[in-house]
Amino acid sequence: MAKAKSTTVFFCQNCGHESAKWMGQCPGCRQWNTFVEESVVTKGREMGAKRSEGSRSRPAALSEISLEEEDRITTRMQELDRVLGGGLVKGSLTLVGGDPGIGKSTLLLQVCRNLAGDGREVLYVSGEESLKQIKIRANRIGEFDGHLKLLCETSLPAIEETIRNTKPGIVVIDSIQTMYHEGISSAPGSVSQVRESTSTFLQLAKGLNISIFIVGHVTKEGTVAGPRVLEHMVDTVLYFEGDRHASYRILRGVKNRFGSTNEIGVFAMEAAGLREVMNPSEFMLSGKPEEASGSIVVCSIEGTRPMLIEIQALVCHSNFGIPRRQTIGTDFNRVNLLIAVLEKRLGMSLGSCDAYVNIAGGIKIQEPAIDLGIAMALASSFKNRIIDSKMIAIGEVGLSGEVRGVSMIQARVQEAKKLGFTACVIPYVCMESVKEIKGIKLIGVKTVGDAIAYL
Ligand code: TYD
Ligand code: MG
Repeated sequence: MAKAKSTTVFFCQNCGHESAKWMGQCPGCRQWNTFVEESVVTKGREMGAKRSEGSRSRPAALSEISLEEEDRITTRMQELDRVLGGGLVKGSLTLVGGDPGIGKSTLLLQVCRNLAGDGREVLYVSGEESLKQIKIRANRIGEFDGHLKLLCETSLPAIEETIRNTKPGIVVIDSIQTMYHEGISSAPGSVSQVRESTSTFLQLAKGLNISIFIVGHVTKEGTVAGPRVLEHMVDTVLYFEGDRHASYRILRGVKNRFGSTNEIGVFAMEAAGLREVMNPSEFMLSGKPEEASGSIVVCSIEGTRPMLIEIQALVCHSNFGIPRRQTIGTDFNRVNLLIAVLEKRLGMSLGSCDAYVNIAGGIKIQEPAIDLGIAMALASSFKNRIIDSKMIAIGEVGLSGEVRGVSMIQARVQEAKKLGFTACVIPYVCMESVKEIKGIKLIGVKTVGDAIAYL
């Protein structure tokens, strides 16, 4: 047997980049001060080397592989099923990342409850909370039944043994940063520990055909490795995001070996856990002011689902030499560009004005299809003219002030119609594709100037 040899290397705690010497800036992800020294055992390591006789693989022809009926398990949460690509795949490893306190444990405990309620054997391993704390959380969420087993443990070999002995169908590991293997000398949460734990769970998932969820906290700095260092090892990566002060949460697929990554799931955090939001448009538009300048509704596509969102702009006289520009929820540079277009192409003197743009509800949108809405909201606030509250705007704006076409225009217009909007400003080039839609007034515009004439 080769002799064990221990060396130390430096790992970037953000992206997992490995280096023989310390560096101030990571060449992989360009973050500063993220390198931490860790010792790694290079040879002769016993862990992970155990393989039961039956698990040795042999090559197989594609035609030999049979797909079982029930290869996808429904979590009884439509929003989650959609992000997973139509349900949970057996034998898959899913990473759920997000800021601490965003609701990852709550989401997964609810998934466990649903799956255990369907009679599946579920094991929830917590390295962060005591059994009592989990019980308190469970009581808030609702009724649980006997198929859910809880385990408070951080030792990787102990968890592995429990999983091998009890053979649950679904396992939740909360969180990967607390898992610890004695054979590795670096601290829990370090890149080596996190990678070793993930590869152990990967083997368990594939070997025993168990679906495993791993929780990974997004860390801003410090010595705890973030979920990005294990993105390449897992099958599916979901990020749970949202404004901690707002109630809605968005589950976004970043990587998915079994489906599309464009989908999002929308949830609302309430007193009794997470509630699915089936109609996000309605949710996002609640509380929209009726008669106010600078407010307009736009339609953005998230995955395959259109979502109506309110954009608010405030333009006011600046008291300083350099005007203030601020954006919340959208790209700052894009808004600056739109301000420049309004200034140059329409002669609006915004140079002496402060401008603030806010996507209501705290959601973040980068899609260019909301450009026209932003430009119209800015112009409406500047001119102090109210935009018809039953009108929405869709379109991308180019540098010469032209309104360019956007994708999936039918779906966007249909969504507006469904929510009771009566008029829709759309790019002129898209008029042909929506001419069949009746019951909503369609206004085709070629330039931002045409659109602003409707204010
Ligand atoms: P949690 O799932 O513990 O977050 P994470 O595991 O991502 O760190 O969520 C904690 C937050 O959720 C906490 O601030 C309280 C809130 N919460 C509710 O509002 N309602 C509930 O029913 C539960 C269980 C939590
Ligand atoms: Mg938690």
